Amino acid sequence: MLVYYLRDVLELTGTHIGCNTSQCGACTVLLNGEAVKACTVFAAQADGCEVTTIEGLAPEGGLHPIQEGFWEKHGLQCGFCTPGMIMASYQLLKDHPNPSEEEIRHDLKGNICRCTGYENIVRAVQYAAERMQAGATQPAGA
Ligand code: FES
Ligand code: FES
Repeated sequence: MLVYYLRDVLELTGTHIGCNTSQCGACTVLLNGEAVKACTVFAAQADGCEVTTIEGLAPEGGLHPIQEGFWEKHGLQCGFCTPGMIMASYQLLKDHPNPSEEEIRHDLKGNICRCTGYENIVRAVQYAAERMQAGATQPAGA
């Protein structure tokens, strides 16, 4: 599966494996700019595609506005779900640049967090939406 290729072959271990059954979203990456769960995509299916992992979301040494939002709003505790949450949030903000709280909760329902209660994750995405609308660095590929 793509998630194993990323982690074991390319050593991009920012993409996590939680459930391995498409339930938790910890493995979310971008395939040609669209969020996918890498535990359910064959590595061969990604051949010739652009794959973006959490490692490649921001310019080196910087933070993407979504990462900044998670930092500023304390959108994580243990951090296990965070890379997947951020990649799913990328998709969300691409589709809905100014999402309502309900849209954020709905769009992130495929990503599970056992620590935060989701409140600060919602605030993190709202922060990122504001920053991106104010002209902060746009998501890669947008
Ligand atoms: Fe892929 Fe949980 S590890 S969805
Ligand atoms: Fe621990 Fe989300 S921060 S699982």
